[in-house]
Amino acid sequence: MSKNWKIPLSEPEISGNEWKYIKECLDTGWVSSVGDYVEKFEKMLASYSGTGYAVATVNGTSALHISLVACGISPGDEVIVPALTFIAPVNAVRYCGAYPVFMDCDKDTLCIDVKKISEFIKNECKQGKDGFTYNRKSGRKVKAIIPVHIFGHPADMDPLLEVSKKYNIHVIEDATESLGSEYKGKRTGSFGRIGCFSFNGNKIITTGGGGMVVTNDKRLSERIRHLCTQAKKDPLEYYHNEIGYNYRLTNIQAAMGVAQLERIQEFVNTKRKNASIYSDLLSEIKDVKFLWENKQVKSNFWFYTIKVAKRHKKKLIKYLLSRNIQVRPVWKLIHTLPMYKNSQTYRIENAVKAYETCINLPCSVNLTSRDIVIVVENIKNYFNRN
Ligand SMILES: Cc1ncc(COP(=O)(O)O)c(C=O)c1O
Repeated sequence: MSKNWKIPLSEPEISGNEWKYIKECLDTGWVSSVGDYVEKFEKMLASYSGTGYAVATVNGTSALHISLVACGISPGDEVIVPALTFIAPVNAVRYCGAYPVFMDCDKDTLCIDVKKISEFIKNECKQGKDGFTYNRKSGRKVKAIIPVHIFGHPADMDPLLEVSKKYNIHVIEDATESLGSEYKGKRTGSFGRIGCFSFNGNKIITTGGGGMVVTNDKRLSERIRHLCTQAKKDPLEYYHNEIGYNYRLTNIQAAMGVAQLERIQEFVNTKRKNASIYSDLLSEIKDVKFLWENKQVKSNFWFYTIKVAKRHKKKLIKYLLSRNIQVRPVWKLIHTLPMYKNSQTYRIENAVKAYETCINLPCSVNLTSRDIVIVVENIKNYFNRN
């Protein structure tokens, strides 16, 4: 995000009605978490994602946390999560006192491997008389699965929903990176019991910081709103009926969100067009594979990803950074981090390879074709020298 990069990794695009709407909040005094823009942003996002209800939150992490709480994820439960992800959904599981079980990813999409989830449940879990699924090894209840639509590419939702139904396990979609992506013609966030979005500064639309929970379940959305508002039952008497959270988005941020969301389709189209340009240009370099989308999906290509041989990964990153082009490795696998190193894992193989070989390239909406040519020329130069 630094202004010093010749080509930054991901910069926000703020050239619509942001100033106008935020000024309106400042001029009218509606700056906090009550206001027309919060409601408008929620309605617009519910409609865009194809869901019935939306609740705005302070960020994507709180959206995930509150979703788990609302689905009844409790201390001692288990949640299946990807090993390859940003850390937020895993931490959210621990905020509930539940435990993650780490799953591998698909080698092409980098999203959670649904075949392995199914295999894990068949081989390593049993069905309890109470209708829940129990992990044989830990004896714990497997309560939820959090598929993350990695870098904007939708996870394989149909078989995942089948598993969820068959074994009575909630699906909470981490759609934080995938606003505008589609799986079989339907937008991500609308498949699970709940979907979560983030509007962090590096996301396809941003409110500086912000998040949203979407669902088709009206009662669940009301419960989430209640929990996000300190569980205040009576606003006059300040009667709170349980322990809640202050997780509401402010009207100022929502105003920015509305201005950004007005342009989402334009942003998605630009990202997809730039993906094609990258893909065409990179196809000339035999040592590089640009990760494309599967049939039946439309990715928002939040992040562009390439695969190179393991021996080149760190050196290529270093070379591009030295040329003032901001790139980064994919996340360190979460089960290798100190807090999670004793957690249960299931056959993590593709994620290890992905970590060893994948690099994220500059992906801002305002990236020009010329920027992309410069990135690709520099990658070419690296391989010509090595
Ligand atoms: C996969 C994933 N989940 C959750 C989050 C958390 O969102 P936030 O930063 O808004 O808390 C992010 C991004 O930041 C993310 O990439």
